[in-house]
Amino acid sequence: MTSDGTRAVHAGRAEVSPGGPFTAGPVFASTYHLSGEPSGPFQYGRFANPTWVALERALGELEDAAEVVTFASGMAAISAVLLGLTAPGDTVVLPSDGYPATRTLGDHLAARGATVRRAPTAADAQADVLAGANLLWLETPSNPGLDVCDIARLSELAHAEGALVAVDNTLATPLGQRPLALGADLSVASGTKALTGHSDILLGYVACADPAVADRVRAWRTLTGGVPGPMEAWLAHRSLATLHLRLARQAENAVAVARLLQSRAEVTGVRHPALPEDPAYPVAARQMRRHGCVVGFTLPDAATADRFLRALRLVAEATSFGGTHSIAERRGRWPGDAVAPGFIRFSVGCEDPEDLLADVVQALDAALTDDAH
Ligand SMILES: Cc1ncc(COP(=O)(O)O)c(C=O)c1O
Repeated sequence: MTSDGTRAVHAGRAEVSPGGPFTAGPVFASTYHLSGEPSGPFQYGRFANPTWVALERALGELEDAAEVVTFASGMAAISAVLLGLTAPGDTVVLPSDGYPATRTLGDHLAARGATVRRAPTAADAQADVLAGANLLWLETPSNPGLDVCDIARLSELAHAEGALVAVDNTLATPLGQRPLALGADLSVASGTKALTGHSDILLGYVACADPAVADRVRAWRTLTGGVPGPMEAWLAHRSLATLHLRLARQAENAVAVARLLQSRAEVTGVRHPALPEDPAYPVAARQMRRHGCVVGFTLPDAATADRFLRALRLVAEATSFGGTHSIAERRGRWPGDAVAPGFIRFSVGCEDPEDLLADVVQALDAALTDDAH
């Protein structure tokens, strides 16, 4: 087994063929030549595409999956699991925190006759509501709270109930944690974030331990049409080769930003799973190999947080995370997250740390100075 960086650089690369391109370009096709009885992998553009296949092979290597199915966005991938693999009458256990749109999908499941139970990510609280479950959905680390749950422990408990276990692996990426190796059945992610990391494409995927489950997920994609564009799939594959480099710099920068924030009296509740004093640390240290680029913290109120965001020069105000450019936002500006008004989600990028830290210091100073007037 080669190590992570080598795997990321080589993942899904084509066999060497003399005169062939080192990296095959994207295949743009809605229609393929197809005579007589339909046969072969490429029959119609919504069913399959060679550029997706190469990316899916690469992601399969990184996630330790039997098969991967890529989608147009993280939500298309999440919908394929929550809607495509459940039926009316099923019991589905979701986190009560985590990405709000996933929780909203739970409302749709309930409206279609599923029993939906929710419990927090922290302290493995979903373990208490697993009786009779058909599907357990975990999001660890959770966005934006950065709580962590024990994938191996919860998978074992859920499997004892006969449930499938899916983990939203968006924040960690497959180089941060491998849910299938920890016992989950599905690793689902938005590739829009750190995986592709350049803030320029939407993408999602479902990585499956069981090819039969992958067939059902693929059938859902073919039916509902949430397919990735070939250009997006190609750009995503290209981005994988630098994933380990980006994650290493971002994680280092994230810890430096977190330490700086902890040193400031006006900042409370600094969260990052790599900090030994963080409540998520004990489980994160066991199951994660890289801890991600998101730092959470709280300023005294919404007005101070807004002044801080406006004073930042290098760090842009935007909603997302995982990109090479640092961005931040006051999360309470959106409905759906139970966060303090001054809570900020800070996605730390690949800038030189001294520039990033200087920007944060001057913006905190400016936010507080303004307060005095
Ligand atoms: C944890 C998590 N899962 C899924 C998604 C949805 O991804 P997409 O925007 O690619 O649909 C997001 C988006 O922010 C997210 O943060």
